[in-house]
Amino acid sequence: MFNPSKLAISLDREGEEPIYRQLIRYIRSQIESGELPAGTRLPASRDLAKQLNISRISVVNAYAELRAQGFLSAHAGRGTFIAGDSHGGGNGNGSAHAPETPTTPDRSIREMMRMTRKPGVINFSQGSPPADFYPVRHLRDAINAVLDRDGTRALGYEVAEGYAPLRAAVRDYISALGIRCSADQVLITGGTQQALDLVVQALLSENDTLVTENPTYLGMIDIARTRRVQVHGISLDEDGIRLDMLENFILDHHPKLIYVMPTFQNPTGTVMPLHRRRQLINLATEYKIPVLEDAVYHELRFEGEPLPPLKALDEEGIVIHASGFTKMMHLMLERGVMAQQLERNNRELARRRDVALAAAARYLPPGSKWNLPQGGLYLWAQLPKSGPTAAELYVSAVHAGVSYAIGSVFYTNSCGSHRIRLNYGAFKPADIEEGFKRLGRAWRELACDYAEMEKSPLL
Ligand SMILES: Cc1ncc(COP(=O)(O)O)c(C=O)c1O
Repeated sequence: MFNPSKLAISLDREGEEPIYRQLIRYIRSQIESGELPAGTRLPASRDLAKQLNISRISVVNAYAELRAQGFLSAHAGRGTFIAGDSHGGGNGNGSAHAPETPTTPDRSIREMMRMTRKPGVINFSQGSPPADFYPVRHLRDAINAVLDRDGTRALGYEVAEGYAPLRAAVRDYISALGIRCSADQVLITGGTQQALDLVVQALLSENDTLVTENPTYLGMIDIARTRRVQVHGISLDEDGIRLDMLENFILDHHPKLIYVMPTFQNPTGTVMPLHRRRQLINLATEYKIPVLEDAVYHELRFEGEPLPPLKALDEEGIVIHASGFTKMMHLMLERGVMAQQLERNNRELARRRDVALAAAARYLPPGSKWNLPQGGLYLWAQLPKSGPTAAELYVSAVHAGVSYAIGSVFYTNSCGSHRIRLNYGAFKPADIEEGFKRLGRAWRELACDYAEMEKSPLL
């Protein structure tokens, strides 16, 4: 027999592991031990939620996930059953077969997001540029040309700071953005993420403080945690990081580094106007705190006037500029080819942005809000606070065939519960439309349950 009181004893309400995941674990262990034989009918989600004194959403999510894993089957009008024997009463060994068994319990929302790379899911959660933008032909030609020219020498070790002609090419490339430097001020890294990590390692020791925007790039939060530095996020307004709050924080806490994304901030898409850029540099110069500028989205502009990167405005040498070619996906080809490619890509991004805005208006629940990106890959949306949180909606959304980045992971504190980030740039218009449609449907289904749950005084 199904024994919910057993679950109640073991649920850890204060821990990091979401309740619905604990529930999945316990139901699975009862199935695997044979205590819950195939065919057993599980209580309705509302009843189980009442018995365990937990939210009904947690039960709905747990059942949905167990169904996807093959442990449960649902029969319209009859209820939810342990899978394996449709006649009920056990199948001899008493356990259902799971096609895919995660080996480690996932302890956080980020893990939950990583779990859902399932075929058929329109995955708006990723940070990658559109796969159809990759310049495969140019890439192949460039690799062949280098191998023909240099043979195996091309595959050997290089000096740590990077291949000298490439450093010179990067210097020339960024001079077109207004950044003046010499080739020996350029360091080649394996992507922007590595550059951010190296700067943190070089400038901060354990327990030093790093200031970021809040929300900020998830990868930087990870770097800070791995390097054991304190990370503190400062809120944004429509012009970027709030300088009044930043200054107060500097006075009280003496941070060692300020990390910002002035153009198409990830995840909000905010662009810092020129006057705020100058003020930030002045503030950092006054307090002698280096600014790490992450410019990976700088050139993904499809609307509005281009602005100089912070580094182009920096006369004191207080700014470190980090960027990469991942998001633009062009190699060190001659500038003409790259410019053409970039222009084409940005035109297509604008088209996809328009489709995403129209789909958001059509399918996101009433009361939702979102930004109007002028560049970059992401729509940053706020779902109505009266409905499920982004984390609560997640499993249902994935089962409906769509996923997104849960907004709270970008915050350095516990904000953003109803926010989501959607990478519209990575998908063709038809998929964008379909993805938003699925998302709207998943929200509506869950919101109905949610509204009922909210009405019930017992839950
Ligand atoms: C703001 C930001 N910085 C850095 C990166 C990582 O860039 P790269 O792929 O060049 O390491 C990303 C990727 O999503 C990003 O969004």
